[in-house]
Amino acid sequence: MVDLTTNYCGLTLKNPLVPSSSPLTGDFDDVRRLEDAGASALILPSVFEEELIEEQDKVDRFMVMQDIGHHEADSFLPTAHEFESKLDQTLEKIQRYKTALAIPVVASLNGVTDSGWVEHARDLQQAGCDAIELNLYGMNAEPGARSEMIEDRYLHIVQRLVEAVDIPCTVKLSNQFTGLMHFVTELEINGAAGVSLFNRYYQPDIDLETLQVRPQLSLSSSSETQLRIRWLAMLRPQVQFTLAATGGFHGFQDALKALLAGADVVHLCSVLLKGGPTVITDIINGMSHWMEEKEYTSVQQLKGSLSHQNAVNPEGYERENYMEILDSYTPTPGVRV
Ligand SMILES: Cc1cc2nc3c(=O)[nH]c(=O)nc-3n(C[C@H](O)[C@H](O)[C@H](O)COP(=O)(O)O)c2cc1C
Repeated sequence: MVDLTTNYCGLTLKNPLVPSSSPLTGDFDDVRRLEDAGASALILPSVFEEELIEEQDKVDRFMVMQDIGHHEADSFLPTAHEFESKLDQTLEKIQRYKTALAIPVVASLNGVTDSGWVEHARDLQQAGCDAIELNLYGMNAEPGARSEMIEDRYLHIVQRLVEAVDIPCTVKLSNQFTGLMHFVTELEINGAAGVSLFNRYYQPDIDLETLQVRPQLSLSSSSETQLRIRWLAMLRPQVQFTLAATGGFHGFQDALKALLAGADVVHLCSVLLKGGPTVITDIINGMSHWMEEKEYTSVQQLKGSLSHQNAVNPEGYERENYMEILDSYTPTPGVRV
């Protein structure tokens, strides 16, 4: 029997498979099924501050309407305190999950304002979650926004959060940072407990019939793991904190590669939305079987054994062989004359 335990932001997990934020982790019956299938922790859908601000605006408008008064019709309307915000729903979920589940429950927060991040993180901690993932999802397309300014803003948020709460805060990042290596090391210095690599951006498309811009959400594929695996391998020797892999990890082979490169945990989302919670059991079985065959006794032993520092051919992760790879391409016969 192989030992699958791993650590995630200071928490000991029974295995490295953690469902990331998605509608599945927001549903009580689904989270029970995820735990039964072997999930070692779970991350709730994000609390989006923008949504909370919008909700508050609606409540404010509603209260103004109530002040104006509509006589007996008012008795059919809910009172302002009967509105339950998305934040309230999440806080209730955390409490319910913590009572019903044995695995750690991680909240996810996507803030806009400086004070919002801190305030909501305190609420989430108060509700009993074990850690918070900060989802730094943003376009940063303002013409005046230099990369340094953006990074400083993020670091400032992390510093304030780490000061505000006692539970670990990890950061879910996009890969769109020019100096990713430096930024990730700065996150560690500033108190983050880990990073999740990488957020997937949902790209809009143009509908040629209606000439409308269509936002679209497509689920991931395993080919997306390669970028993540490379960065996990490069970052592992540089940082001590938790590295989580997210984006395209579907099968046990993907999960093993992430761990070999240096991840502590592997987040699952698309594969669970497609195949349901029992996929986790299949991944656990596949991983355990492969590890036994290769004579690994524990995930601890496996982790990072193919990081940039430990790989037999670390140049495989580097840019040096870029030209060699381009040259190795063999054109399909008959395509070129
Ligand atoms: C329907 C859906 C909802 C999601 N909601 C959130 C969310 O609320 N917060 C978040 O940080 N990520 C969210 N994600 C992103 C996933 O947690 C995950 O990081 C991403 O899908 C990449 O992993 P995957 O390839 O396993 O799907 C969502 C993804 C999907 C498909």
